[in-house]
Amino acid sequence: MKPLRHLLTLADVDVEELKTILSLAEEIKADFFKGVRPKRLDGKVLGLIFEKMSLRTRVSFEAGMTHLGGGSMLLEEQHIGLGKRESIPDVSRVLSSMVDCISFRAKKHETVQEFAKYSSVPVINALTDKAHPCQALADMLTIKEEFGSFDDVTITWVGDSNNVAASLIEACAMLGCKIVVSSPKGYQFTSEEIEAFTAQRQPGFELVLIEDPREAVRGSRAIYTDVWVSMGQESEEKERLAVFKPYQVNAELMSLARKDAIFLHCLPARRGLEVTDEVIDSAQSRVVEEAANRMHAQKGLLVWLLED
Ligand code: CP
Ligand code: NVA
Repeated sequence: MKPLRHLLTLADVDVEELKTILSLAEEIKADFFKGVRPKRLDGKVLGLIFEKMSLRTRVSFEAGMTHLGGGSMLLEEQHIGLGKRESIPDVSRVLSSMVDCISFRAKKHETVQEFAKYSSVPVINALTDKAHPCQALADMLTIKEEFGSFDDVTITWVGDSNNVAASLIEACAMLGCKIVVSSPKGYQFTSEEIEAFTAQRQPGFELVLIEDPREAVRGSRAIYTDVWVSMGQESEEKERLAVFKPYQVNAELMSLARKDAIFLHCLPARRGLEVTDEVIDSAQSRVVEEAANRMHAQKGLLVWLLED
């Protein structure tokens, strides 16, 4: 029996384990493009709980499991009545007695933490308000493919200090990659949060906080942004759109980064707000490759968690 592991944030793995997951992803991706799909998870079942909308996360997990010889099932909130029809511990105990792994997108991070406490199988955070570790796996895979390594790479995060940024900083710390974070006042991480994200920092890692996005992108090889209003923050929309306006990634901002800089976005994007069509559709954009890497990265994670 494999020891029970969860991935609620990247703090649940150590640096070597993170590197192993990414190497597995690279190996499985290379096989996939040779037309080889080893059934490494033959007969295993992944349950997927979604309390929020998703395209990439759901499809990448479902397709990934099928390619690996396993299966998956979607459990929507309104069908299982998590916390309403049935308590979180009861759902967790029962579901984990029937499936091999559970991927959970929750409104509140605490819900996934509570769920994992009662699960007898690995629980993967498929996004919460606090973290998006699966996205960070795909992001780092994309960076590695683009630049060959994390040495001499600076990523600049422009916009909200949100769930995606939190996991990205954690991944950069663990893999020794430089990151600049540019967020307006009131939407920045606290020093306690940063301390927690960087607990496993490795040589080569550096985090610089620069409020002015024009300063922040200088010398960067990857410019990364996300929506200004995340799922669950809809009531703050008006105020957020005004505050983040100077943080739009447009052609002018891209021109201040390195000439060969790439553009990243976890998607979905609100075109015309955090990014212009001109940038997201440009030759510098890697958003489709990044989205595709969600599947390859999560296959690495699933194999690491579940392979006999
Ligand atoms: N990036 C991401 O998690 O996309 P979805 O919300 O579509 O799953
Ligand atoms: N920050 C966004 C990411 C979506 C993939 C959100 O939480 O809505």
